[in-house]
Amino acid sequence: MSSQRQSPAVRPPGFVYRETKGGILRRGGSFALLCEEIPLHKLAEQYGTPLYVYSATMIRERYEAFDAAFRDVPHTICYSVKANSNLTVLRMLARKGCGFDVVSGGELERVLAADRKAAKQVVFSGVGKTREELTAALKAGIMLFNVESESELWALAECAGRLRKTAPVALRVNPDVAAETHPYISTGLRKHKFGVPIHEARALYAKASGARYLKVRGVSVHIGSQITDIAPFGEAMARVADLVGELRLDGHNIDYIDAGGGLGIAYEKPSSRGFSADVAAYARALADPLRRLDVRLLLEPGRSIIGPAGILLTSVIYRKQNDGKRFLVVDAAMNDLIRPALYGAYHEIIPVTQSVNPAAKSEVTDIVGPVCETGDFFARDRELPAVEEGELLAILDAGAYGMVLASNYNTRPRPAEVLVTGKSAKIIRRREKVSDLLRAEL
Ligand code: LLP
Repeated sequence: MSSQRQSPAVRPPGFVYRETKGGILRRGGSFALLCEEIPLHKLAEQYGTPLYVYSATMIRERYEAFDAAFRDVPHTICYSVKANSNLTVLRMLARKGCGFDVVSGGELERVLAADRKAAKQVVFSGVGKTREELTAALKAGIMLFNVESESELWALAECAGRLRKTAPVALRVNPDVAAETHPYISTGLRKHKFGVPIHEARALYAKASGARYLKVRGVSVHIGSQITDIAPFGEAMARVADLVGELRLDGHNIDYIDAGGGLGIAYEKPSSRGFSADVAAYARALADPLRRLDVRLLLEPGRSIIGPAGILLTSVIYRKQNDGKRFLVVDAAMNDLIRPALYGAYHEIIPVTQSVNPAAKSEVTDIVGPVCETGDFFARDRELPAVEEGELLAILDAGAYGMVLASNYNTRPRPAEVLVTGKSAKIIRRREKVSDLLRAEL
């Protein structure tokens, strides 16, 4: 019996197959995909599909691995709320001592709702912070404002002056380092809207330190997202380290270096050496240029913490063929998970139940949603074990930039979210109803 066969496309310990007896058509056994100890088909029965499912153990373990990789350097992890902002997720991380990176007043409110005391570990990034948002963050007493332009600096000085509160400031510098990733999520080049050019930073720091209610505290940088080559992170840090030296000579106190986020994950196949080794290499690249600088390193990981810890569970509504081309039409769509449509992103897709028989039929098919756009696909020409109508598929690595980017396009209510710990599952966001959508309209 092939009982040792394991599908390679799983994400342990959160998502694994377990063999069950007498499954598919009673021809031998089948593999059932679980989240931790719970079969995903049970979650689908109970909560319906499409459904986001997260493994709490995996979120915790990834956070701990990330934290451990930086144990030799004073550091604070400020989880990037934009990746997945569910309140339960934020609360879970806050309990572990995690700080937060926010980019809007809304995200700040979420963090405060999750844990009032988390404000002192919050960094606020973004090119377009409004005066209302700056004021709310000043009132909350956040750790650091990552200022991205001279205009923003003066807006912050004005808001701080009005409250008679001192604003802790870092400038987000643009190191002009190229990092290979999708052009929409690369940020560290001169042509991008983010930050201030690194060679203009000194002049701006001089202006900042002259403002009564601003206090220079650090330097911040973020070169992009889904970066899997470690070298550009080291390069950016080396440039930041040089700048810190110059700023100190100019008489500024630099206590923090905020390295941003951006560590990529392996969407196509899980890294063979595991997350701990990947994040250790990343930590070395960041920390080496900072040795002897005596600063606290701030880190803003999003995807690397929560991406692989979540899936989108969906049911096959119809099988169809157009002139021999096969489609699986599923009940999730681009409004639920936009990454394939927006970035051409690859997500592994696996059946929730599959035969243990290695000779079982597979087929090449597109996996598409019901939305009226050709761009509404999750995979094209993908080889997959043959699945029938009514069966379930798991779209992997959907924990980051999944639910947060969901919309109501085609008046589709957004999915529910479930968090699993061992044998227990709890709903952490209820499924939206059409009536929720209609209510806001007069
Ligand atoms: N810090 C800053 C200033 C950022 O702009 C970002 C992401 C992060 C941290 C977190 O980066 P991470 O560790 O998650 O890579 N929607 C896109 C990703 C957009 C990322 C935007 N900024 C996607 O689905 O790939």
